[in-house]
Parts: sequence; structure tokens; C-alpha cells
Amino acid sequence: MAADQTTLDAIAGAGDLAALDAVRVRLLGKSGEVTAKLKSVGSMDADTRAAEAPKIHALREQVTAAIAERKAALEDDELERKLATERIDLSLPVPEARQGSVHPVSQVMDELAEIFADLGFSVAEGPEIESQWYNFTALNMPENHPARAMQDTFYLEPREGETEARVLRTHTSPVQIRTMERTPPPIRIIAPGRVYRSDSDATHTPMFHQIEGLVIDRNITLGHLKWTLETFLKAFFERDDVAMRMRPSYFPFTEPSAEVDVGYSIEKGRRVVGGQQGWMEVLGSGMVHPRVLANCGLDPDEWQGFAFGTGVDRLAMLKYGMDDLRAFFDGDIRWLKHYGFRALDVPTLSGGVGA
Ligand code: DAH
Repeated sequence: MAADQTTLDAIAGAGDLAALDAVRVRLLGKSGEVTAKLKSVGSMDADTRAAEAPKIHALREQVTAAIAERKAALEDDELERKLATERIDLSLPVPEARQGSVHPVSQVMDELAEIFADLGFSVAEGPEIESQWYNFTALNMPENHPARAMQDTFYLEPREGETEARVLRTHTSPVQIRTMERTPPPIRIIAPGRVYRSDSDATHTPMFHQIEGLVIDRNITLGHLKWTLETFLKAFFERDDVAMRMRPSYFPFTEPSAEVDVGYSIEKGRRVVGGQQGWMEVLGSGMVHPRVLANCGLDPDEWQGFAFGTGVDRLAMLKYGMDDLRAFFDGDIRWLKHYGFRALDVPTLSGGVGA
């Protein structure tokens, strides 16, 4: 039994996939015309069945094949239509994507972590709300020590049952104590983070960022400190001509103590690190005071170490040429656009940490 022309015309004439499917249902669906013929085979007597069944099966195959062929043709047409109409002009400029930027402080902290990781330091952290023990006492600044008055400390209201007010940490040095307490030496850490002092003008903000360094081992000398700082400053400012000098100074938690200056020259009216036209202070440092080691349960006859601390914001200003610290924390989108870094400018030593 061959399909009659009307059936074949209906298939070939289906204008789209939906119309073709309607024809398919009409012919091959549960109560479709061809399906009805297939069903009738069951009630035929043996002779009729022998004669008719092959024809009916052939009819079903012919109709199925015709539908598949039409379907493929319709899908081809649809693709052609899409290719013709949905054209993308690759020569058009890319639409401007919304873009945030990495704050210079975050960028510089990443640069510092990268430089010190290469020297074998890991990154340590501590809380921003500190006890006076960690912020002062353990660092060899007992109560009534004049050094406590040097830092304009924010004190918190003591909580119920607390005998002593906690403070917003005034420096990252308490992380030295916390690290020595829980890590047996040798120790090599840096500790970047926020610190707080009651102070505000063009070069001071009540919140700013410091980074602390601490090395504890046997037979550590001032020479190790000097080499580490020189290596760090050259890597950070990305110049081999960085001149560094150490001046005797005083910090309660180091003995001896030194302030570290870098040489600068004036280029286009701006201070640029390198050369020796003048000196500016960038770091505090020294050999960890024996009393600080003892406060952390370390025997000063066995262990020595050096420490240093510096302002991250100031390092960023020096390296990237900003001159007002307050702008760092204003959140002005124009400033962030100008001084911010792209998220993909990840500092690497091989690529130059300055991105
Ligand atoms: N904590 C000091 C400050 O905030 C900076 C400092 C000086 C840190 C000497 C040190 C150090 O680790 O050895 O002014």
C-alpha cells in the first residue's frame, strides 16, 4: 500500500515544524490514520493479513521517512534564516563593561606578600580589637611607660566584668606576640593589616595600614635585618639604585633599634625613590628585645630575632605618586579609577611586582 498523493502533499506542504508535527499526529499519532490501519491488522483473517500487513508496514515506513525528510529540510531552512538575520558585526567596538578596580593599598599588600613569600615568609594575622597586654605590655611597654602616650590610642568601654579596657590596635606589632606564643621558632612572618590612632590631617588618618615583619631563629644578627630590608626595598621600588641607611633610634620592643631611611631624588618637582639627594624615613626596625622574647616563653639566650614595621599607605604613596593620604579612604570613584589597579594586574616577581 503506497501513500496516496494527498498524504504526501500534506507532509511536503507543512510550512513549519509545528504544522509538520500536526500532520505527524494526524497520521502516526495514537488515533492517527496510519495507526488505525496498523491496528486493523489484528482483526484480519490469516489470508488477508498475509496480503495486507506488509503493505501497511511499508506505508508506515514511507510516511515516517517522508516526515523525517521534511523535518530535516525545515530545520535547514530555519538555520539558513538565522544565519542570514542574526549577524554579529565583529568590527563594532566592545561595549564598555562595568569595571571595579583594586585599591592601591590592596595592590601594595599583595606586592609585599609576593616579595616576602619569595624570601620564605608567610602571612600572619591578628585581631584589630586587642587587649592592652598584646598591644603594649608584652611589647615591653608596661603601664605608665611613656611610650604608651606616644600613640594616640582609641580605648573601648570595658565590658561587664572586664577590669581593663581593650583598645583598637595602634600597630601591627601585637601580631609578633601572638605568633611567638603559638609557633615554635624558627619564625618568618609578615603581618599586614589595619591599625588605628586618634589622629587626622593630610598625612594621618584615624585608620591606616601597617605591615610588620618578624624573624626568630638561632644566631640572627643585625646583618640579617639589614640584608632583608635592602632586598625588600629594591624589590618593592623596582630599582637597584635604592640607597638605604639605618639610624639609631628607640622602640621599646627592640634593642638595638633603628629607623630606616631611603634616599630620594627630585624629578619634576616630585620625590622619587633612588639617588641620594635627600633621605626619608620609611621603616622602624630592630633586634627583638630579650624581654619580649621572654614574655612569649622563648629563652633569649637560645633565640634571637629581628622585627620591622612600616606604613603600607605611605609605601603606596611613595611608589605610585599620590600626595594626600585622606583620599585613600574617601571612596571617590574618580580617584579609584585613576589610581586603582585592574583585577588582572596580579603582582609577580617575574613580571615586576609593580604590575
Ligand atoms: N610598631 C611601630 C610603630 O607603629 C613600628 C615598628 C618599629 C615595628 C620597630 C617594629 C619595629 O616591628 O621593630 O610605630
